[in-house]
Amino acid sequence: MSTKGNVLKALEENKGVTVSGEELAGRLNVSRAAIWKAIGELRKEGYPIDAITNKGYCLSSFSDLLSAEGISPHIAPSFHGCSIHVFKTVESTNLTAKKMALEGAPAGSVIIAEEQTKGRGRMGRNFYSPPSRGIYMSFILKPRFDASKAVLITTAASVAVCRAIEKVTGVSCFIKWVNDIYADGKKVCGILTEAVTDFETGQIEHIVLGIGINYSTASGEFPEELSEIAGSLFHSNPVSDGIPAVDVAQTGKGVPAEDEPSDPAPPSRNRLIAEVINQVLELNEALESRSFIEEYRRRSMVLGKEIRILTTGQAHESRDFTNGITAYAIDVDPDGGLMVRYEDGSSGTLNTGEVSIRPIG
Ligand code: BTN
Repeated sequence: MSTKGNVLKALEENKGVTVSGEELAGRLNVSRAAIWKAIGELRKEGYPIDAITNKGYCLSSFSDLLSAEGISPHIAPSFHGCSIHVFKTVESTNLTAKKMALEGAPAGSVIIAEEQTKGRGRMGRNFYSPPSRGIYMSFILKPRFDASKAVLITTAASVAVCRAIEKVTGVSCFIKWVNDIYADGKKVCGILTEAVTDFETGQIEHIVLGIGINYSTASGEFPEELSEIAGSLFHSNPVSDGIPAVDVAQTGKGVPAEDEPSDPAPPSRNRLIAEVINQVLELNEALESRSFIEEYRRRSMVLGKEIRILTTGQAHESRDFTNGITAYAIDVDPDGGLMVRYEDGSSGTLNTGEVSIRPIG
C-alpha cells in the first residue's frame, strides 16, 4: 500500500482522534515529510483532516468519503481477506464486477462506487445512483449449488442487509419479496443478482450480487416516477446532522437490543458498507442450511396478505400475468420461492426474478 493509503488507514482507524505525525512516521517507517505530503494529497481529495500543532493529525468524525481504508477497520476478522475495490464513478458496479470476475477476480471480492451513471435495477429498470448519497456495491460470489437456486442468494442477501442496517443505524427494515427492503413504508434498498456465464462452456461461473441503498437522498431529489415509492435511511447525511428517516422514538422500533449497544460514532457509509459485507459473507457461507429463511418470513411485508402479481417476463407458472393477477401470499419455501393461493383456489410458487408483486391495501 502507498504511504497515502497507509496514512488514510491509520486515520480512519482513529477517526475523530488526533494521531501524532511522529508516531505515524515511525509506524510506517517513512519520514515526517512523507507523512505531511500524504496528508496534503488526502486533503486535496476532500478528506477533512485537521493538523493540530504539536499534537498531530485528526480525520474529522464527519468525514464520509468512501474508501477501502475506511471500510476495512470494520470488517470482521473472518473476512479480512476479502478484496475491496472502491471507485469514484462507474456505469454500474454489477457491470464492473462481471468484467472483473471474467478477468479472474476471486470470489468474495466487493466492488463499490460513490456514483453510478447507469445503475441497473430488476426488469430493465434504472437504479437512481447519485454521488455521495447512496451505497452502490456488488459482490462476486461463486455458486456452490445449482444456479436455479440463485433466488436463495438474493433471499439471504435481503436478510443480511436488514441486519446490517439495523445494527449500524437502528432503523427497522422489512422485505418485500424478493429483493426490496423497506423502512418506514418506503423502499430504501434494492438487490439485483446476475449470473456470469463462461463464454465457452456456457456454465454459470459466478454470481454478481448488487446492492443499492438509498442512504441520504432527500425525498424531493428522487426522479418523479420513484417519489411515491423510494425513501432513504436518513433525511440528510447523518454524519453531519444525524436525523433518522424513521421516527425511532415514536415507533419504538429500530432501538438496538440492550445487549447490543449502538455504535457511538455517527453511522458513516463506510461503516454500513463494512457491516453489509460482514453479514452477506456470513450468510453466504450458511446458504445451504437455509437458517435465515425463518427471519426472512418474519421480516416479510407480504406474507398473510393479498398481493397483485405482475411480470414483464416469463414466470415459471403457466399463467398469464400480463394484466396482473391477485393472489394471497401464504409462505416462503425453503428455496426462497413465494407460495401463493390464487383467487380460483389453486396454489403455486413464484420463483423467477422476473415477477414483480405489490401488496394490496
Ligand atoms: C432493484 O431495485 O430493482 C434492484 C436495484 C439494484 C441496484 C444495485 S446498486 C449496485 C448494483 N449495481 C447496479 O447497477 N445495480 C445494483
